[in-house]
Amino acid sequence: QADINRYKEILHALADLYCQGYDLAWRQLYGEEKPNRLHLPGYPFAKESYWSSDSGSPFVSMGCERENFVLHPLLHQNTSDFSEQRFSSRFTGEEFFLKDHVVKGQRILPGVAYLEMARAAVQQAAGRSGQENVGIQMKHVVWARPMMAGEEAVQVHIGLFPDENGEIAYEIYSHLDESLEETVVHSQGTIILRPACEVQSLPIEQIRNQCSREMLSSSQCYEQLRKMGLEYGPGHQGIETLYIGDNQVLAKLQLPAFLLDTQDQFILHPSIMDSALQASMGLMIGSGSLKPALPFALQELEILEACTLSMWAAVRYSPGSKGEDKVQKLDIELCNEQGTVCVRMKGFSARILEGKIDSESKEKLGMLLYQPGWKEKRIDSAVPVSPISQHVVILCEPDQAIEDSIAMNMNGARCITLQTKGESIAVRFQGYADEIFEEIQAILKEKTNSKALIQIVIFSKEQVPFSGLSGLLKTAHLENTKLIGQIIEVELKDNAQTIREKLLENSHQPFDSHIRYQDGKRWVAEWKEIKTTQDTVKIPWKDQRVYLITGGSGGLGLIFARDIARQARSATLILTGRSALTQGMQTKWQDIEALGARVEYRQVDVTDQQAVNRLVESIQEEFGGLHGILHCAGVIRDNFILKKTQEEMQEVLSPKVLGLVNLDQATKDIKLDFFILFSSIAGSLGNAGQADYAAANAFMDAYAEYRNDLAAQQQRQGKMLSMNWPLWQDGGMGVDEATEEMMMRSMGMIGLQTANGIQALYQSTGIGKNQVMIMEGKVDQLRMLLEQDHSKENDKHSSVNAVAGDKIINQDLYQNLFNEIAAGTLSEEEFSTLMKM
Ligand SMILES: NC(=O)c1ccc[n+]([C@@H]2O[C@H](COP(=O)([O-])OP(=O)(O)OC[C@H]3O[C@@H](n4cnc5c(N)ncnc54)[C@H](OP(=O)(O)O)[C@@H]3O)[C@@H](O)[C@H]2O)c1
Repeated sequence: QADINRYKEILHALADLYCQGYDLAWRQLYGEEKPNRLHLPGYPFAKESYWSSDSGSPFVSMGCERENFVLHPLLHQNTSDFSEQRFSSRFTGEEFFLKDHVVKGQRILPGVAYLEMARAAVQQAAGRSGQENVGIQMKHVVWARPMMAGEEAVQVHIGLFPDENGEIAYEIYSHLDESLEETVVHSQGTIILRPACEVQSLPIEQIRNQCSREMLSSSQCYEQLRKMGLEYGPGHQGIETLYIGDNQVLAKLQLPAFLLDTQDQFILHPSIMDSALQASMGLMIGSGSLKPALPFALQELEILEACTLSMWAAVRYSPGSKGEDKVQKLDIELCNEQGTVCVRMKGFSARILEGKIDSESKEKLGMLLYQPGWKEKRIDSAVPVSPISQHVVILCEPDQAIEDSIAMNMNGARCITLQTKGESIAVRFQGYADEIFEEIQAILKEKTNSKALIQIVIFSKEQVPFSGLSGLLKTAHLENTKLIGQIIEVELKDNAQTIREKLLENSHQPFDSHIRYQDGKRWVAEWKEIKTTQDTVKIPWKDQRVYLITGGSGGLGLIFARDIARQARSATLILTGRSALTQGMQTKWQDIEALGARVEYRQVDVTDQQAVNRLVESIQEEFGGLHGILHCAGVIRDNFILKKTQEEMQEVLSPKVLGLVNLDQATKDIKLDFFILFSSIAGSLGNAGQADYAAANAFMDAYAEYRNDLAAQQQRQGKMLSMNWPLWQDGGMGVDEATEEMMMRSMGMIGLQTANGIQALYQSTGIGKNQVMIMEGKVDQLRMLLEQDHSKENDKHSSVNAVAGDKIINQDLYQNLFNEIAAGTLSEEEFSTLMKM
């Protein structure tokens, strides 16, 4: 018996080891006599239901159609396929977060619902349990367009796009029509799953004492919000009391009683979260500007704990932002009763709703014209100083004494002097661009993420064209945010000591990319919208005049040649290019000749000074004068800085830099009616892959200011205008359908229509500015992108992103574009077409 027991014990132990995966030598157990295998009955699958019964459904109060089958109240089904990790939801409009969230008469999905939707989607996809939300971070959230509930149920999808760094980009979108062809993106952002941060607390009592200026009850708050057109139903009336202080507010929040059973369904409960955003109204009361607004962007959100039934929301301006700003940035912290921070939002901004809310299809399309301007801006000592590991100061043709003193006394900075004597400004610019390009390339090749600051100092008005080097700096920053660039124009009266002080103070304001000191004041470049009227339209073309169009056989050259022929009788048009004249080219302008214009083609390379001189002389001799120039010659050689060669760069710079100066020199004594430069948005904003093209166009922009100054001193005649064109629908560097669709989706921009481009030129010549930037698309969205003042940002990413007003659009555009690439919705071809901007 003892043996049998021992045998069974060993057998059990062996069985256990076998189950654990050990490979056992069974032969030793049985010896020579092998036992037979036995078939045992299979396991019967018990058909038992584990669904909760109807009566206890947690989603009954949600008003969802599919209440028993949804993954989450905001995330109904997993509809992923091989092309996309996707979740879809169908909202009837009766859910509390829609029914009780009415803005200007429309039921709108609250911005906070997208945050919870994205969080829940990532939680599902990552196979996390509800308790594992701690440590979720969201960044670069943009609410592009509101989603409205109409009479019929609306379907919304969320796509997740993980990248190799572990970040998950998301896009929340719906389809405009049944064919599913047109997509409307409502919100997008990025989620990072990371270890939980340390728990932090806020001194609630202390903050409440600081917020003693005014106290509003719940009903007072919602009455105030109602007057602003924001109708919150019971499900979104979470503010119990609002305490208002100077530049900060504190709100006591309470989940409405009828939603208590929904608390466990959400981590970022829409009712509580939305009430926290509503609390920011307290700041508006303080600043006296009460206007309805919808969420627009959020730099960062951290989830430390789930929202609780009763919470505190502390709202204040983000560092550097203030009540008077056009776009205010807020930091909002949600704490539980004990003051422990559960959710932290940084850099939240909202867009003011001026008219009634429009759905995507009805959004107003139009054209916007912007001009560069200067805004007086003192050094903002509130901006936190971010550490810079490399500081390079580049002096443009300084006096020897200033050079020596700055080089010796700029502690920690490397000084480079740009000094080429006796050459034309174009040759010097192209040479300097080469030097700086090499410098930038070397910095970008260093495999560190620490920041580098390049400051280029310009000393006099004559050096203004050198500010075109900003095109290199802006592009470098777009290609790698670790590089920050500044153009600093100092005053003639400045000595080495004051210049050093200016360099130092600006190194603490890296958000300002172009600074000008004038009349003892500090000015920062910004974009100002031009309000045009019919009165400002001026057709520059006149009858029987002689016009030179460089690059005239290209797309835009021919568009304008045709327009001149239409508007002016018997015009003579001299088109130039490097190519020899062909039959094919001639057929392209037959219709122009048919309109009554005389078209002549000259094979001239604008970079050849002698050839340009000969061309100008011969035009005057042959046609009796020259009255206007459209400088359209240009080439692109797109490549990121790390890959770009100096040969490519010189090729791109030459027609716009050398070519322009050659033309200007050759015509300096001629009484021109106009001299129009075909520049690009890339010149004003930089463009990834186009450092050379951006610098070439920025040189032309700056040259227009320089030459108009000469004209004011009677050294030139006629106005020079630099047009920063966007991509045109037609024309040589035009846009295809797929790119246009992508431009619209990601930035609300469309290819410039020919008629509008011509109109824009008429308006720009009419107002007589040096430089005009043009964009066509959804005006509200474009305005928002361009006018949002990012100069106050201080977070790690955005502080280096947003260097000045003119940079803003780029950052947002690029963020969108890169999201598109990550999402696979933007092909490399589309991206390179966009780079041609
Ligand atoms: N189309 C757009 O969407 C757009 C947008 C923004 C800015 N722009 C700017 O507008 C201008 C015209 O654009 P586009 O679309 O008409 O371009 P395009 O069709 O490529 O025409 C450019 C023309 O420039 C000529 N060219 C290049 N280098 C030259 C040189 N060294 N000397 C003389 N001619 C030269 C080329 O002819 P050869 O090869 O025969 O020399 C070509 O015909 C460009 O400068 C571009 O930067 C265009």
